[in-house]
Amino acid sequence: MSIGLLCAIPPEWRHLHEAMSDVRDETVGPLAFSRGQLQGHEVVLARAGIGKVNTAMVATILAERYNAKTILFSGVAGGLDPTLAIGDVVVGTQTVQHDAGVIQDDRLEPYQAGHIPFFNPTEGFGFRSSEALVATAQAALADLELPSLSAAAAGGEPRRPRIVFGTVASGDQYVNCEMTRERLHRQFGAQAVEMEGGALGQVGAALGVDWLDIRALSDLAGASSRMDFAAFVDEVAASSALLLQRLLPRL
Ligand code: ADE
Repeated sequence: MSIGLLCAIPPEWRHLHEAMSDVRDETVGPLAFSRGQLQGHEVVLARAGIGKVNTAMVATILAERYNAKTILFSGVAGGLDPTLAIGDVVVGTQTVQHDAGVIQDDRLEPYQAGHIPFFNPTEGFGFRSSEALVATAQAALADLELPSLSAAAAGGEPRRPRIVFGTVASGDQYVNCEMTRERLHRQFGAQAVEMEGGALGQVGAALGVDWLDIRALSDLAGASSRMDFAAFVDEVAASSALLLQRLLPRL
């Protein structure tokens, strides 16, 4: 039984691929999977590409073909919580799909993905990772000090990144807008926004797979988020990969 490791884009994937030993690369159609060893575990590392559909496809393959009972996402996100800074890490213990729901009066009323209120209603909104996995991650990361960021990423003075646990909002939209950043934080109480975790949560719930969404902040989702993403994605993705490797031996 392998642990599934999931990334969206090459800068996220590279750190983990380099850290693995006994690597065997395989393809399934256009998708890349690498079996190997990491921190004493047999792992399968997959690079899904951006977005929820890609993520759902690859998470399902990890579960069904590679028999992964746990899938850990390692990557980057935009920060929503104004107390967080570029380089901080949000461990997503709950994901919400901010782009799913019903459009009324030209406005989206968010609703659980896979449901509409007048056909197959549900009380649920979002997907939670298992309490046991979250507790394991909290214990594993309690005394982890991430390396200081470069002065550029830290906005002047080098500073040590923080690690927080919380809600991650997910949608098939890159957020490059201050108003949307504020709304997503207010509406969903989310700490970070990205484009994949909501699908991982949904597949995990459907197939009985434990999951955790580990995200280092490459940007703060506001007007400069495109530039910040390009400048810092490599540097902060390394923190997320480091954190994942700290967690693995506890699993
Ligand atoms: N991933 C990294 N930054 C992001 C942003 N600002 N919006 C959506 N996904 C992201």
